[in-house]
Amino acid sequence: MSAVEQKWSVEDYERNARFVSDLAQGVLEWLAPRPGERVLDLGCGDGVLSARLAQSGCRVVGVDIDEGMLSAARARGVQVVQASGENLPFEREFDAVFSNAALHWMTNAGAVLEGVYRALRPGGRFVAEMGGHGNVAAIITAMRAVARRRGADESLAGPWFFPTPEVYADMLRQAGFSVRRMELIPRPTRLPGGMSAWLKIFRGVFFEQFGEDAPVVLAEVEDLLRPVLCDAHGNWTADYVRLRVEAVKE
Ligand code: BEZ
Repeated sequence: MSAVEQKWSVEDYERNARFVSDLAQGVLEWLAPRPGERVLDLGCGDGVLSARLAQSGCRVVGVDIDEGMLSAARARGVQVVQASGENLPFEREFDAVFSNAALHWMTNAGAVLEGVYRALRPGGRFVAEMGGHGNVAAIITAMRAVARRRGADESLAGPWFFPTPEVYADMLRQAGFSVRRMELIPRPTRLPGGMSAWLKIFRGVFFEQFGEDAPVVLAEVEDLLRPVLCDAHGNWTADYVRLRVEAVKE
């Protein structure tokens, strides 16, 4: 398996998904960056958090696969490297590897952890937050239900890696880490652009399979979700669950 196919639009992300970095305070507190530390921001996206880490005195390198996102990160003054998280090109260079809301896009998690381990100096720490088991379960189920009803490809509905703490702890140990702490945190998250914006930004590939029927299919998915994820004022909330982890390279 490899990274989930996804096209990113920096503008759509800025407009409808800024909450992703705005909600990173908890994992940044776990990182507790110290001035002068060399930190790799894995899946840095548009570099908002890398820039924040640099402001706190760290020497930060952002790594991402998406050229558009990397341009946005460069424009913020972030030093970036273009690479797949499943094939990281670093050797014993970093005091910490940090990642927010990126690892669930990289489905070859074993290869990611091997690369993170290689990138760290001995004693270095890996602090990350990603979608955990049960993340966006209602949203995925609604897409699958509509795809099944229409005889379409259900597997395009939810290709992400959302592990349980037990599974991820095993994988970390197998890669050579010792796990300091790990938490599975339900975090219902308000969607400023509503459900349709979320679906279009993060699962466009699923809807593209329906060609000109895509808008109708989008409305069907929304209709299924409205009773559980939309309140009486029309505010949408996604059923996010975070897996937060700190592990150390012994
Ligand atoms: C997440 O941050 O949990 C997430 C974002 C987009 C798609 C799937 C999961």
